[in-house]
Amino acid sequence: MRSRMIAGNWKMNKTYDEAVELATGLADELKDGTGSVDVVVCPPAVDLKGVAEVIEQKKAPFALGAQDVYWEESGAYTGETAPNMLTNIGAKYCIIGHSERRGYFHETDEDVNRKAKALLAHNIIPINCCGESLEVREAGKHVSFVVEQIKKDTDGIELKDPNQYVIAYEPIWAIGTGKTATADDAQEVCGAIRETLASLFGKDLADTIRVLYGGSAKPDNIAGFLTEEDVDGALVGGASLKADSFAAMVKAAMN
Ligand code: PGA
Repeated sequence: MRSRMIAGNWKMNKTYDEAVELATGLADELKDGTGSVDVVVCPPAVDLKGVAEVIEQKKAPFALGAQDVYWEESGAYTGETAPNMLTNIGAKYCIIGHSERRGYFHETDEDVNRKAKALLAHNIIPINCCGESLEVREAGKHVSFVVEQIKKDTDGIELKDPNQYVIAYEPIWAIGTGKTATADDAQEVCGAIRETLASLFGKDLADTIRVLYGGSAKPDNIAGFLTEEDVDGALVGGASLKADSFAAMVKAAMN
């Protein structure tokens, strides 16, 4: 069986001090553990070290993730972060292909694919985001659009262990808008993603890779998504910025 995952994407929020405070608050909220639920927090790059220290000092039951990476090992790439820099400060996960990076920073599926390969080479687990715009959904092409994204993003990748990779389906029209997809909408696409993973990596592996839903997921709607067969958790933006609301989502996933 797949264990559930709740991941927080803090985006460009929280100064260093605020990030340490949030991580500390979350460690307190989750001091009794998270059962079989894997919990990840993804702060901005400059906050990673501070959050890593909180995790270590408080033996917090959550893992550290980054929000982006560059695929080169080192060199003249001003502003970028290399995979081994993430490993070195204790990051275990990294979001790639978020729609904000695809949209504002013109990240392509080829870029996402390079990032995925670089992360895997450094034993960092990619949280590979995918999702369609409102226009694509209204044209009824959302399933084929997302399936294509996943095929391109994972092109040439060989997985040995299902825990090496996480997919997050995040319909763009539901991100930060308060407009959630229905649980059935999420299941339709997450189910298609799992079938695609089965065709790429084999059924056994696909059956155990976590597929998350993201887009205005909150404490009061998370339970509905989690009843769906192919939704294994959530990638949470806004509701991950407060320790109590994020912890409430983790606790909902523990039930
Ligand atoms: P949201 O963001 O929960 O604020 O909609 C989700 C995401 O973009 O990962």
